[in-house]
Amino acid sequence: MSELLWDFSEKAEDKARIYRFYHINSKHSPRTQSFQAPKVNYSKVLQEESGYPVVAKVPYLEEITDNGYTLYQSLMERRTSWKFQRAAMTDEEIIRFLLYSFGISDKGQNTKTYPSGGRMYPVEIFLIPNTKINESSQIFHSDKVYRYNVFSREIEVVAEGEISKLDSLTSSTQIGTMSFADTQFLICLVGNFMQINEKYHSLTYRLIQMELGHIGQNIMLTAAMMKLNTVPLGGFFEDRVNQYLHIDGIKKQTLYVFALG
Ligand SMILES: Cc1cc2nc3c(=O)[nH]c(=O)nc-3n(C[C@H](O)[C@H](O)[C@H](O)COP(=O)(O)O)c2cc1C
Repeated sequence: MSELLWDFSEKAEDKARIYRFYHINSKHSPRTQSFQAPKVNYSKVLQEESGYPVVAKVPYLEEITDNGYTLYQSLMERRTSWKFQRAAMTDEEIIRFLLYSFGISDKGQNTKTYPSGGRMYPVEIFLIPNTKINESSQIFHSDKVYRYNVFSREIEVVAEGEISKLDSLTSSTQIGTMSFADTQFLICLVGNFMQINEKYHSLTYRLIQMELGHIGQNIMLTAAMMKLNTVPLGGFFEDRVNQYLHIDGIKKQTLYVFALG
């Protein structure tokens, strides 16, 4: 039997108001700070060794020259659009895209083009390149799931991909007229909750959402600079995306997806 897409027996009203319960119970207060947050050395970020094979390493931002494109142009040209018509990105463009969106802009401090609460960077960047890019890129050369590691600057191979399944990952593509067929790649922003939970307790979820917004805007403005269209997607089927990325959906969860093309 095929999976039920709409289930009207669910109590939609109750579900829709969960935000109130969550919000009220996750407020920051003097108590959160003094009683909950343990005194540990947070500058030592808990970064697990990934062990994934590495296909490329992204340089520091200061090691490349800017192309003179202005913020004004980017703000004017940023738009959500499903028209993915650009020719395949070159590897130089892929690197530039990753650098502007997520790269390290201060080599000494390891700080990046987006801010992060406590400088702990709990958002992981998963990339799913599509056929167009697989055919021409030395970096994204096959149907796999990749991760840009924001700490090591390495592009890692996480798992096998299954491009034919991409259109089943979001509601826009499954029941609408939209398709990911002509995209360059999908970007899945994954929250690694354990990375900041010990320090931030009930603020964890809020802080990760704020960081996602910063990263998302970088993605869209950088894409505009490269004459690429983007779609920010809230309507993705999280369990399917988590499964595609080979993440557990508990300690790590997909929180935001972008199509780029
Ligand atoms: C959090 C968020 C979730 C979104 N989810 C979807 C989505 O699932 N599908 C889609 O086609 N567009 C989605 N959009 C894009 C909006 O429809 C779009 O930003 C809006 O129409 C304004 O257009 P603009 O981005 O071109 O200014 C989303 C945007 C945001 C900020």
